[in-house]
Amino acid sequence: MKNKILSSSTMQTQFPSTILLLLLILTTYHFIPSLSQICNPNDKNALLQIKKQLGNPSQLSSWDPTTDCCNTTWQGASCDTFTPTYRITDLDLSDLQLSQPYPIPPSITNLPALTLLSLANIPNLVGPIPPSIVNLTILRYLTIRNTNISGEIPGILSQIKTLVTITFTNNKLTGPLPASLSSLPVLGGISFDSNQLTGAIPESYGSFSKTLFTGLTLSRNKLSGKIPASLANLNLAFLDLSRNALEGDASVFFGSKKETQQIVLGNNKFGFDFGKVGLSKNLEKLDLRNNKIYGTLPEGLTALKFLHKLNVSSNNLCGQIPSLRFDETSYAHNKCLCGSPLPPCKT
Ligand SMILES: *[C@@H]1O[C@H](CO)[C@@H](O)[C@H](O)[C@H]1NC(C)=O
Ligand SMILES: *[C@@H]1O[C@H](CO)[C@@H](O)[C@H](O)[C@H]1NC(C)=O
Ligand SMILES: *[C@@H]1O[C@H](CO)[C@@H](O)[C@H](O)[C@H]1NC(C)=O
Ligand SMILES: *[C@@H]1O[C@H](CO)[C@@H](O)[C@H](O)[C@H]1NC(C)=O
Repeated sequence: MKNKILSSSTMQTQFPSTILLLLLILTTYHFIPSLSQICNPNDKNALLQIKKQLGNPSQLSSWDPTTDCCNTTWQGASCDTFTPTYRITDLDLSDLQLSQPYPIPPSITNLPALTLLSLANIPNLVGPIPPSIVNLTILRYLTIRNTNISGEIPGILSQIKTLVTITFTNNKLTGPLPASLSSLPVLGGISFDSNQLTGAIPESYGSFSKTLFTGLTLSRNKLSGKIPASLANLNLAFLDLSRNALEGDASVFFGSKKETQQIVLGNNKFGFDFGKVGLSKNLEKLDLRNNKIYGTLPEGLTALKFLHKLNVSSNNLCGQIPSLRFDETSYAHNKCLCGSPLPPCKT
């Protein structure tokens, strides 16, 4: 193409400009794919297979083989029109009403340029996460949320080195947390809440990137065992381990030098001295309800500018409540917390 344009311009002196213009139009027209053809044919084929493998749900009626799959009319599918490679980079399938239970469509792994895959609010999506998902080698954002996907979280996910977030909220996943995920170099967070995961938090999770890994959400599972001391290395913005059967020293998540905004540990069996923890200046939410946490409330609580939610009820805490603006349900059912809004301390 370069050569043709060059030769056109060298001819500029010999031809009238109208002929030159015609030549340019003819040569360039030849090299710009017609708009109806820009979608990569392999990607188009994979999408049509996916539709078939889901039983042709009506929500995907816009996936029409006679139209271009890079046309924004293909619901949930987006092409790279910026670089442009015209490959399918994002596949966001949500709210599909499937006529019967279907597994994750095998042809999803035939979309090698995917950087975002989201399968959300699909009650009839069943079966395991297929190991072939590792063929999506540049995937960054993986979401499977509100489905009936079951089986274990494949440890093989650690082969997708580009993963930034893994969100598996509210499915039927069972088995352990894969220790291998800690080897993902740019992982920013995992949300595995509301599944049936068992076992302990792996020691290896202490080696998640201190700068990049900021979100750990594992609430509403059946996790048990002690918090590994290695997790003290993390600098999380958001932590939610609530509603499990975890125990031991969760003070490793606290620290005055951390940038933590939310610590939610409620409804576990944690036991540690709350009076000795350091508090992040950014703390907005601290929910420790229903544990075996002892000691006093830390002095530093009163200095937290952003704290708008505190619940330390049903623990073994003692001592005077510092001057804060929370109601008595935030403090109720402790061993001997006292002072406003609870009854005054005995002297
Ligand atoms: C996109 O699809 C619409 C409706 O099918 C059509 O009118 C339009 O020409 C298409 N655009 C491209 C770029 O293919
Ligand atoms: C799982 O399937 C059951 C029965 O079809 C359905 O009621 C439930 O909503 C599904 N769960 C999710 C999270 O979609
Ligand atoms: C990835 O794809 C290749 C070829 O499409 C296939 O042979 C291989 O088994 C796949 N990998 C996995 C882990 O399924
Ligand atoms: C604190 O948690 C208890 C349950 O232990 C709940 O009853 C109460 O409403 C909560 N209070 C606040 C302010 O969140």
